[in-house]
Amino acid sequence: PNQSEANLRSPICCIMGHVDTGKTKLLDCIRGTNVQEGEAGGITQQIGATYFPAENIRERTKELKADAKLKVPGLLVIDTPGHESFTNLRSRGSGLCDIAILVVDIMHGLKPQTIESLNLLKMRNTKFIVALNKVDRLYGWKACRNAPIVKTMKQQSKDVQHEFNRRLTDIITQFKEQGLNTELYYKNKEMGETFSIVPTSAISGEGIPDLLLLLVQWTQKTMVDKLMYRNEVQCTVLEVKVVEGHGTTIDVVLVNGVLHEGDQIVGTYLHHKEIKAAQGIKITAQGLEHAIAGTSLYVVGSHDDLEDIKESAMED
Ligand code: GTP
Ligand code: MG
Ligand code: NA
Repeated sequence: PNQSEANLRSPICCIMGHVDTGKTKLLDCIRGTNVQEGEAGGITQQIGATYFPAENIRERTKELKADAKLKVPGLLVIDTPGHESFTNLRSRGSGLCDIAILVVDIMHGLKPQTIESLNLLKMRNTKFIVALNKVDRLYGWKACRNAPIVKTMKQQSKDVQHEFNRRLTDIITQFKEQGLNTELYYKNKEMGETFSIVPTSAISGEGIPDLLLLLVQWTQKTMVDKLMYRNEVQCTVLEVKVVEGHGTTIDVVLVNGVLHEGDQIVGTYLHHKEIKAAQGIKITAQGLEHAIAGTSLYVVGSHDDLEDIKESAMED
């Protein structure tokens, strides 16, 4: 492989949408975990990062026989809350990402926080893929566990297909009212102009292979410059919180560069020999009670003047 291909960082993907559309459940489905049921009231109240290595993505997409070369080392996905009171967290998440998944419940269509999320993405000119979730709730749906969506649709009765198309058409119209062209991803001939819709179920996993493959292909195809790995550390604080036994900790996203054990960081430090971007990391150290969510982290190089860096940090 040529050098530039081998040296991409992982794209950062933010998952956004109205409350209870299934954002966390979709991540649970990809991870094989059950975080959502452990949440108080089933409501996400923070942003969290999950890393999906390329092997994981390759395995989940193999049925699509895309034969697509994965050039990125993986995918870092950031979950955000959909509840109306967490606009600041949605804004922080959307500010960090290279691409987004906008989750829409097929039974409910566009809702206030869908539109709020849309506006955040538009404002930053962030491209996104629509996950049209909960297709398993269509009356008479035949589950095809973790199957690609085209194969799944062929298994459905005429009634289910008709109901699906009716709801899809309504939702495409709702997007149009927001000034956006959208289309089923496998019919979308002008990716970029028209945003792609991937029907999914976070319960039975239909459409998950399509969603993962599209995310990787889309970022690899259109964001190579942005994803070019750089040595310079770029790191953002997501959350500052007190964890029992650890005192104040910070959750950060390492957007670019490598953090090494022993690096002096203005703010911080952690528990790995080294970590390469993009990754989500929890850091425990002294003095973190002064950290502020949404700001950058600076690594002190051997030739840097600590005071200069402290000054940059104060400007954030
Ligand atoms: P917030 O983080 O609170 O905004 O919600 P969320 O978007 O993360 O939704 P969550 O994952 O909490 O799911 C909300 C509810 O919808 C839960 O009861 C899930 O089990 C259910 N759910 C999510 N995805 C699906 C799906 O694809 N099909 C069905 N039938 N239920 C789903
Ligand atoms: Mg959630
Ligand atoms: Na929820």
